This record gives sequence, C-alpha cells and structure tokens, in this order.
Amino acid sequence: MPLAFASSSSPSIPLHVVEEDALSAWLETQDATVRNWLNGMGFKAELGKVALVPDAQGMPALAVAGYGTRDRRARDRFALARAQAALPAATYRLANADALPDLDEAALGWLLSQYRFDRYKSGTAPGAALIAPEGVDSARIEAIAAGEALTRDLINTPASDMGPDQLDRAARDLAAEFGADISVVAGEDLLSRNFPMIHAVGRASARAPRLIDMTWGEAGPRLVLVGKGVCFDTGGLNIKPAASMGLMKKDMGGAATVLGLARMIMASDMPLRLRVLIPAVENSISGSAFRPQDILTSRKGLTVEVNNTDAEGRLVLADALTLASETPCDLLVSMATLTGAARVAVGPDLAPFYSTDESVSAALKAAAVRAADPVWEMPFHAPYEEMIEPQIADLDNAPSGGFAGSITAALFLRRFVGEDIRYVHFDIYGWQPKAAPARPKGGVGQGARALLAALPEVL
Ligand code: BES
Ligand code: MN
Ligand code: ZN
Repeated sequence: MPLAFASSSSPSIPLHVVEEDALSAWLETQDATVRNWLNGMGFKAELGKVALVPDAQGMPALAVAGYGTRDRRARDRFALARAQAALPAATYRLANADALPDLDEAALGWLLSQYRFDRYKSGTAPGAALIAPEGVDSARIEAIAAGEALTRDLINTPASDMGPDQLDRAARDLAAEFGADISVVAGEDLLSRNFPMIHAVGRASARAPRLIDMTWGEAGPRLVLVGKGVCFDTGGLNIKPAASMGLMKKDMGGAATVLGLARMIMASDMPLRLRVLIPAVENSISGSAFRPQDILTSRKGLTVEVNNTDAEGRLVLADALTLASETPCDLLVSMATLTGAARVAVGPDLAPFYSTDESVSAALKAAAVRAADPVWEMPFHAPYEEMIEPQIADLDNAPSGGFAGSITAALFLRRFVGEDIRYVHFDIYGWQPKAAPARPKGGVGQGARALLAALPEVL
C-alpha cells in the first residue's frame, strides 16, 4: 500500500502534541470536559502516550499525543511516529504544528510508521492517517517514503521470491515507471562480457547471476550507485553456521537501498545523470561452486585469492566498481551489507561510511542529521592495505586474523575504483532488529536519505 498523506478534505480529528512540561498550561486552554477527561485517566504527556477525548455523543473530539521531554526525545528519531503507532485508525490533523521542532521529520516519520509488509499476510491495516501539515512539501516526503518502502519490501521478501531474477524484475519495473534505460548481463554472458567474479560467486546457484545496469537522466552531474545484490548468502563452501545464515535474505540490502534511493531521485526529478549497477547473485553451494584458495582474475585484471567464499560481496562489487570506473563519473557510491565487523563496531542503527573526499564526508554528516538518517565515518586506513595482500595473488578477499574487518573490506573495494573518482562506500546492516519509531522490525534503508539530502551540495 502506498505511504501517503490523507486528503486535506477528509474528515479528521485534531491532534494536539503536548510536552510533559507544557501539559498543565495546555489543559488550562481547554474546556473542562477535556481537562477532566485527561486528568481522570492520569494522562501525563509521556512520550508515545496518546488519548482520545470524546464529545457529548462519545465521538472523538480531539486526540492528544504525549511528546515527553527533550531529553527523552533525544533517544529517538521520529518521535511523533510513536503516536501514529498508538492511535486508533482514523484520520488526524496536527492542531499545533508549531510545537514540533521539525515538521518534515515528523511528517516523514508518520508515513514511514504506516509501512506494513503485507505481501504474505492480508488484513494488515496501515492504521492512523495524517493530513499533510501546512508548510511541508508533501510530494517530496511521499517520494522519500515510497523509496524507503521499496527498499523495505525488497529486503523483506524472502529469497524464494527474491532471487537474482526477481531483483532484476524489480529493477526493470522501477525503470519502466520512470522511463529509465536498463540492460542486464546474465549467466554465461558474464564471462564473455568480462565480469568473471560476478560469475564465479553466482554460478553455483540454480538461479543465474547477473549484472543489472540502469541509467536515467539526460543532463547534469554523473552519479553512479552500486548495490550489493546477494539474494541469499549461505557463505558458499565456507558455509555459515545456522545462526549466522538466518537473516541472509537481507544480503541484497545494498541493492534494495540503492534502488530505493534511485526511486527518490527519479521521483523528485533531480537534475543529474544517474546510473545504478547491481551485481545480483545467490552465494550458493553445488559442484560448480567457487572454492577456498581459488584465484580469480577480476574484470580489472587484478588477481584475487579466495580465502573465504563467505567474503563474496566484495568480489561481485569489485567487477561492478571496475565497470563504473570505465566512464566519467562525478560521484561513485557503493552500498552493501558487507561485513559482520561493521555491526560489531557500530550496531544496527548507524550506517558506517568511507569516503575518499573530505568535503563529501562533511556534507554527508551534516545531511544525515537533517534527514534523521544517522551515519558514522570510518577510515580508509592505508597502513592496513598490507592486510589484503596475500603471497601468490594481488589481493586476498578475507585476511586472516580478522582485524578491522569492515576497513579491510572497504580498502579492497577501493582498489577497483578509478584513481580520480570521488568514492563513498557504505557498509550497512539493512535490518531493524526490533521495532522502533517509523521502523517496524525487518528490512530498512540506511544512508539513502542522508545521501539524497547531501547530493545538491556535493554534485
Ligand atoms: N553478508 C555477510 C556480512 C554480514 C553478515 C552482514 C551479517 C550483516 C550481517 C558477508 O558476505 C560476509 O559473510 N562477510 C564475512 C567476511 C569474512 C569472511 C571476511 C564476515 O563479515 O564475517
Ligand atoms: Mn558472505
Ligand atoms: Zn554477504
């Protein structure tokens, strides 16, 4: 279901958002019925607590959403989304929008809180709806919400219905919707077209590996987005233990996030030339699987010793980054659920990123705050380059010891990026482990809104 604001002409219940400290003053401005009702139920305006106040017929006359304290809200993003989740299904309009410090964030959080993954379960209603508050650009916020919903849907869809072929289909559908061009190199053609590492990782699966290449926009700076599209990561012959494999339908989270970001860019008609590259594979096991100690020759010509078939993401991304670097490009971004080490370092809520350009990093960090999409900069630490250099090949895909696992993966990717290209790499998690405001448990985009907000400054 689309995440959209209610029509401004629909019948609606006024919603008052009230901080704990402001409650008694606000109650004084209301008539005795409202005061008595809320006092009677012990309403304290704690964050996330809501109440409906009836009129004489017992119909809802107004709603009130507790907004807690500033200290309590500092622990949340999208604080108003708590009210969306708590209120009964009806249409609401903000009665005191001026009480909210950031209306865009409040309105976006409300829409994102309405997200449901309903492909396999009917009867999941989106709940409370909101009339777009005055002064927000509702089309822009709906475009962002639609991009994020696409990301979540793609991640949440199990690998049985989201293999390389279906990810390809999803990209084609998106391209068709916005008039983008798309071409796909699949199966054995990956060898003749020189994408040897995408082929090596994906060839063991019954579902053919592929490289998806979508382009959109006639003029303006060139932005290339590369997303890891590992539709399921068993680990390959270095098979993952059960507990580590459990969530691996989300290993196409980078692809899902760049498609969501592409949707935001195209829907808001940004003046740029966009290219999206997705190596889509299933890291599977069969007689044709690539093996530990195999040495692969990449598209770039660099040789890679496979020391762990579970470090597959960097292999497929490397060939895509090489392709991206073969034509002029003003900013190259990769997004990937690349390492467990990134999770250990920053947990599920922060999107760690690496950047070859300080002004891009600065713009991204500032934009992340504005977009309520937290990021954390990590270093391309050159002294660790030696960790990815084995004895008998140019590169090692899985340095022994495992020190700085996210950094060595990022350094590996950088080897495949053209010298003078500005490059940003996100090592994301793509999954909300337990429900939070505006983010139900399940697939989630990370870094896309920060990038979207930073683009006008960096391109
Ligand atoms: N897809 C995983 C990384 C991952 C695991 C991301 C769990 C998020 C949650 C990736 O392909 C992988 O298996 N990486 C290995 C690399 C190692 C073998 C060098 C890892 O991080 O353990
Ligand atoms: Mn893996
Ligand atoms: Zn993986």
